Amino acid sequence: MSPQLTPRINIAIDGPAGAGKSTVARMVARDMQYIYVDTGAMYRTVTLKAMEAGLSADEASRVTDLAESLDIRLLPGPEGQKVIADGEDVSSRIRSLEVNRQVSHFAKIEGVRNRMAELQRRMAKEKGVVMDGRDIGTHVLPDAELKVFLTASPRERALRRFKELGDNPGVTLEQLEKDIAERDRIDQEREIAPLVRAADARLVDSTGRSAEQVAGEIVKWGQEITGTISAEEK
Ligand code: DC
Repeated sequence: MSPQLTPRINIAIDGPAGAGKSTVARMVARDMQYIYVDTGAMYRTVTLKAMEAGLSADEASRVTDLAESLDIRLLPGPEGQKVIADGEDVSSRIRSLEVNRQVSHFAKIEGVRNRMAELQRRMAKEKGVVMDGRDIGTHVLPDAELKVFLTASPRERALRRFKELGDNPGVTLEQLEKDIAERDRIDQEREIAPLVRAADARLVDSTGRSAEQVAGEIVKWGQEITGTISAEEK
């Protein structure tokens, strides 16, 4: 069946830091020929730009102004998604330790969240989107046809992030585990759109499982919902 004729759905993948959301979401998008949207990258971009402008997360209205005027583009690529902010490639800078530590504070700002959610809903309007984040199934796309809450043990999540940082991580595994726990706490306790499993989200624990396995399971659910799974695959 050609992808154009296949009914398309939106898939929301939420969960804590390091659960493997972006790797899994990218694979699901690849297999279903959908568009992958990394919403964490959007909050990271606002954070980077605000920090570069000398703003702190306490300056909510100035950060909101910045978020509203910022042009953020997510471009698909083989190595993941390229993030272009006001014409500049910020893909690697948004992954720095400093952004990691600050992003949850900037992501608490209501004006920033409203702006990001508006852009995200626009991207999902035509369906055929796999979106990962913290509040996609609960707030951004509450009508998403398939919702997954992806998690893994704190140690495994820290280990995955540690490996991503390469040969010179600049941080110990223990420190990273603490940073991740702190980020989870802030994300879960914030007033607006906190990190929480949507009542209708399927819980998936990726501890000890490969990203391919988890993605395969989600693709199968997607195919069941769209009615595109063949009898022998069921
Ligand atoms: O997925 P990530 O680690 O790149 O996300 C970075 C931060 O952005 C995360 O700690 C909280 C925030 N975030 C959010 O508040 N809502 C989202 N939908 C996605 C990310």
